[in-house]
Parts: sequence; C-alpha cells; structure tokens
Amino acid sequence: MRLAVAWLLASKTCLAVQTGSFLELQSLWTKPAWSQQDGGTVCAPVGLADLLRLQALVGEVAQLLRLAKARWLLSHGSLLGAWLHHGPVPWDEEADILLFAEDFQRLLAVLGAEDWLAQSRRVSTPGSSFQIYEGTPVGALRYDVHEHRDQVGLWLATAVTFRLHSGARDDPVQLDAFLAKANGSHAWTDSAVLPLPLLLPPRRLRFFDWLLPAPQAPRRVLELWYGPKFAARRKCALRGRSSSCLHRLWRPATP
Ligand SMILES: *[C@@H]1O[C@H](CO)[C@@H](O)[C@H](O)[C@H]1NC(C)=O
Repeated sequence: MRLAVAWLLASKTCLAVQTGSFLELQSLWTKPAWSQQDGGTVCAPVGLADLLRLQALVGEVAQLLRLAKARWLLSHGSLLGAWLHHGPVPWDEEADILLFAEDFQRLLAVLGAEDWLAQSRRVSTPGSSFQIYEGTPVGALRYDVHEHRDQVGLWLATAVTFRLHSGARDDPVQLDAFLAKANGSHAWTDSAVLPLPLLLPPRRLRFFDWLLPAPQAPRRVLELWYGPKFAARRKCALRGRSSSCLHRLWRPATP
C-alpha cells in the first residue's frame, strides 16, 4: 500500500511534464524545482552530456546494424520516448531496440560473437540467473551479450548491451538490443507477446534528429508493454544529491 502511494506520487511528479516537445523538456537541463524530493531528485532530465552521448551511441549502433544488414525496431522505453517526446524519455539514459532472430544473428556475426554462449560465464542472482559474454570493443563501441532464465530454466530474455568504448564498463548510457523470438503470428521479447501485424511492416518515428524504424502500431505495442496508461508509467530515476549514481527504483522520497 505504502509502495502504491509512493508510486502514485512518483507518477504524479512525472505527469507534471507529460506534454510538451522533446526540446522543451530537454531545456530543463538543470534540475527543475518540481523534481526536488527528500533524498534525491525524481524524474530529472539526464544531463546534456549524457543526452549527447546517448545520441552518439544510437548513431554508432545504427551504423553497425546497417553494416550487418540487420533490421531492427525501436522498442520498450525508446518507443515510449519516440511516441511521446520524439526522442528518449527525458530522464532515461538507456535506449532499447529489438531484432528478430535472423537479424539478431546478423548482429552477432558482424560482432564476431556467434559463439558467445560457449565463452560466456554464468551469474546467479536471487530468483534468476544469466549467462554473460563481455565482447571485445568494436570501433567506438563495447558490448555484452547476455541471456536470462528463470529458476526453472525458462527463457526470459536475450540482449546485446552496447556502451561507448570511451565510457565506463557500467556506464548508465547504454543501448539494449533485444532478441525478439517469433512464431508465424506473434513475437515476444522479455516482457510482452506482440501480434506481428502490430510490429510489421515498420513505420518511422522521430528519435533525436532521425526517423528511425518503429513498430507499425506504436500505441498498441506500448499498451501491451506498459498497460493502457503507458504515458503515466514512464520509469523515473531517483538521482542522489551528492553523486551521479542512479538508483533505478520506483521509490520517491517518503512524504
Ligand atoms: C504463436 O504464439 C502465440 C502466443 O503464444 C499463440 O497464441 C499462437 O497460437 C502461436 N501461433 C502459431 C502459428 O504457432
């Protein structure tokens, strides 16, 4: 209950900037008054430096995917951002895309990482485990390939996480390229089963200065990922006052 109240407060804080263009929102580069909370800052836009690094990262990955002749779609939080802001959600320094199996293989091939699983190591976390392979840097990029399973070994997700080579190993500015498995009629990634006609053929949505490939029916896809009130459910970061450290929690300060 307390969590629900906290969440409601967090989403209200987010709602304060629900409308407006991407540029308007990005003009709030310094922490706006409404974002100040006890113990941290909620929903504050990412700093300009990280925003530009995210743009560079998306550009680099898009170029790599072009080289690999791999098709892809904006997904998850990036689709949400493209739909609502014509760019990333202002407080999200992660980008998300999805690729179907054949294209995911093309991506692994251009990285020289087709055999990543054989060279991966296993990491156990409470309630799940994953295999991770830390790839050698490619051009301006570094990447990890990882596959997640639940306790009984059921597949949860496979993704390549890209970061800028110039950044830290755990740089929060990152791009997750998710494998979308598909049968003849549906596709699924980590968190939703999506009818293929909602995804294909791709359409283009503005993201930063580009028109990038996106699902055919963005609103429907966002509803499946985040629920019918997806506009209010954008993940907020609680940024500490004293450090740039980011706590990915649904937890604003207790009132
Ligand atoms: C594909 O998967 C979906 C969702 O699990 C299922 O409803 C559908 O019947 C499957 N289609 C085929 C052709 O197997």
